[in-house]
Amino acid sequence: MKRLDGKTALITGAARGIGLAFAKAYVSEGARVAIADIDIDRATLAAREIGETAIAVKMDVTDQSSIDSAVAQTAQAFGRIDILINNAALFSAAPIVEIDRRDFSRVFDINVAGTLFTLQAVARHMIDKGIKGRIINMASQAGRRGEPLVAVYCATKAAVISLTQSAGLNLIEHGINVNAISPGVVDGEHWDGVDAFFAKYENKAPGQKKAEVGAAVPYGRMGTAEDLTGMAVFLASDEARYIVAQTYNVDGGQWMS
Ligand SMILES: NC(=O)c1ccc[n+]([C@@H]2O[C@H](COP(=O)([O-])OP(=O)(O)OC[C@H]3O[C@@H](n4cnc5c(N)ncnc54)[C@H](O)[C@@H]3O)[C@@H](O)[C@H]2O)c1
Repeated sequence: MKRLDGKTALITGAARGIGLAFAKAYVSEGARVAIADIDIDRATLAAREIGETAIAVKMDVTDQSSIDSAVAQTAQAFGRIDILINNAALFSAAPIVEIDRRDFSRVFDINVAGTLFTLQAVARHMIDKGIKGRIINMASQAGRRGEPLVAVYCATKAAVISLTQSAGLNLIEHGINVNAISPGVVDGEHWDGVDAFFAKYENKAPGQKKAEVGAAVPYGRMGTAEDLTGMAVFLASDEARYIVAQTYNVDGGQWMS
């Protein structure tokens, strides 16, 4: 008996990186997964690689009709949605005096509104079907404190932690557990982009910021997407039934809270 046997999951932003590692981990624990991403070509390749227990779904978390359609497609393909991972997000960085209003709106739209309205659509589905489901939001150590060049992204992740608390308290009456995972620094394409921002704003050589942050992690290196899968499986499993509205740091000792 595997820990997620018979369960179905919708994972946003799962075409690559952490979301894709979660999809693979869920499948290996017996679940079926919808790989939902704005990059449908890459989502399709990922689903094909996983096999018949995965489907690719085109989804833009900033567009309500796209959210509704992704939820409907997943529910139709699998009959139900037991687990949502709100994983899609965008990073951005700039000194305070250079923050651009359009960039602010875009990052909040994906990271905060995308998380809330995807959570809402899946919660409605779960309540309608009487599903005692699990919702996992992806926060960040960036949401635990400010950073001089990362004000907007940090604020979005603080909002994700707050939404996790409120939604967790509101939805547990329906038997839906909402919790979050707060990673530290996880190597991959996301961090390639972060490294490029810091190369620009801190005048660093490419790769230098990554090397510095990795060396500063108490565990001794940057995380990998696979370092996070244990928590994602646990929070979706029956063992986590009494955990409500919490955000767990999985970050090699970066942050204590
Ligand atoms: N990598 C890290 O160091 C790190 C640290 C802390 C938190 N996180 C969080 O973990 C999550 C996953 O991070 P990652 O490193 O795998 O990121 P990533 O950038 O590699 O992947 C993000 C995915 O989201 C998709 N996406 C972007 N906009 C979308 C939209 N509007 N609708 C649907 N999909 C969209 C992208 O196509 C991509 O596949 C994010 O929430 C991120 O903020 C990452």
